Amino acid sequence: MGTRKKPEELRSHRWYGPQDLRSFGHRSRTLQMGHSHPDYKGKPVIAIINTWSDINNCHSHFRQRAEEVKRGVWQAGGYPLEMPAIALAEVFQKPSTMMYRNFLAMETEELLRSYPVDGCVLMGGCDKTTPGLLMGAISMNVPAIFMPAGPMLRGNWQGKTLGSGSDVWKYWDELRSGNITGRDWTQIEEGIARSAGTCMTMGTASTMTGVAEALGFSLPNSSTIPAVDSNHSRMAEFSGRRIVEMVWEDLKPRDILTEKSFDNAIRVLMALGGSTNGLIHVIAMAGRAGISIPLERFEQIGQRTPYLVNMRPSGKYLMEDFYYAGGLCGMLEGMRGLLDVDELTCTGKTLGENIAGAKIHNADVIRTPVNPMQPEGGLIVLRGNLAPDGAVIKSTAADPKLLQHAGRAMVFEDYNDMAARIDDPDLDVDADSVLVLRNAGPLGGPGMPEWGMLPIPKKLLKQGVRDMVRISDARMSGTSYGTCVLHVSPESWIGGPLALVRTGDIIELDVPARKLTLKISDEELAGRREVWKPKAKKYERGYGKIFSQHVSQADKGCDFDFLEGTAPIPEPEIH
Ligand code: FES
Repeated sequence: MGTRKKPEELRSHRWYGPQDLRSFGHRSRTLQMGHSHPDYKGKPVIAIINTWSDINNCHSHFRQRAEEVKRGVWQAGGYPLEMPAIALAEVFQKPSTMMYRNFLAMETEELLRSYPVDGCVLMGGCDKTTPGLLMGAISMNVPAIFMPAGPMLRGNWQGKTLGSGSDVWKYWDELRSGNITGRDWTQIEEGIARSAGTCMTMGTASTMTGVAEALGFSLPNSSTIPAVDSNHSRMAEFSGRRIVEMVWEDLKPRDILTEKSFDNAIRVLMALGGSTNGLIHVIAMAGRAGISIPLERFEQIGQRTPYLVNMRPSGKYLMEDFYYAGGLCGMLEGMRGLLDVDELTCTGKTLGENIAGAKIHNADVIRTPVNPMQPEGGLIVLRGNLAPDGAVIKSTAADPKLLQHAGRAMVFEDYNDMAARIDDPDLDVDADSVLVLRNAGPLGGPGMPEWGMLPIPKKLLKQGVRDMVRISDARMSGTSYGTCVLHVSPESWIGGPLALVRTGDIIELDVPARKLTLKISDEELAGRREVWKPKAKKYERGYGKIFSQHVSQADKGCDFDFLEGTAPIPEPEIH
């Protein structure tokens, strides 16, 4: 690294250093908190942005972890300040945590900007917390290290391993078709979430913490350590120690983020068989670094990147198995030849140096390019007259028989319409039908709720049907599975072609050809567009109004237009 900063060059020095009236206030009020001059004077001030909350089940260990991060900061000669931020609890926050990802990003950025912060440790992991925290830190561009929450322990029920999300949907269908009892269902409820930590399937949480590590934001292998493993506590402490050094080295997010580091992130997304949510978040994070990633980049990289980790929902194992098998570093070392290994990371070393010598201890869990789960990544971008700006399907989680399929559309106007009719015995569907849900996109949902795995109609479940082609402008939980076409852009709420589909139309899905086609003429489509009427606005005030006015479509990352890019924002005056 280059020259080290001097104490008087620290950003926080502007608050604490001068012998003036304002600095007197900053110092005296720090003393008020019981901290003496040697605690902070001339030391890097480290903000610990903690997304702990009583409502966030995945972060319930974060109070202890924050103390462990502080321990590391103190040991390395820094001054830690814990700053809480919105928790984005995936299962509880409505209409969708995605609606509030940008809120967390703004909060993170402005916390870092408005206070005397020299560097930060970002504590997140539950789905949208990872991209939200990183987007804010990238925009503020002070030294930042991401401390992932880690996955929870494996679920357990009657000797069977249960995976977050995936087994909920699976056994819910079995309950609805009468194959398990209400008592079984209660036992599953009691056994599926056994500890602190994020969903332990390869859902959005583990996808995004893996992406963060691949980008260089986390210590090596940190994204795979189970939340309640003592290695996790030590990783928290090491993160605290390392950030202090990063401040002296002046190693900032945009020093490690390049087109190549984002290519590495996309490769990891593909190799993990990661969540479709990952595409939206990677595009948004790159946008904060001034890097534009078209959907086609995922396609190009996916064609050259095998799917390597045998994890649910696409495979067999869970995050705990992944960690014991060697974790992300094991996987990365196994695919070294596919990576840009010279990219700089938060350790001050390159990605290649970080992973050097990592081993794979279970070759069934972590595959290599010579023995992959599939030769190509599983996230496929589709286009066609139904999705001119793109749509996404996770082919590894789909029934291979349905990847080329044409069927009659059954259209649901919105989620409530679907919920009211899906189990109607008279619903005019068969196993070949294509279920369509609209008004579930960035504006229509709002926030693209994870409704994209539409339920199989009960009458078909009873006939043994377990997968169908489903199309929506919603997202899908990374723990979900099925032949679900997602993120259809532009969305139906703003008059995208999905708004023009009618029940009975034929829709053709052709994944090998990357096509999604509504089989009607251009004239017919144009005629329907002429008579289409927009719906009434959802929000007249508040955050919802800001969201509605500024959020971009899924293919652009769903960021706010005024937060994209790297235009400089002045440092606050200290008066
Ligand atoms: Fe938090 Fe799944 S609910 S990661």
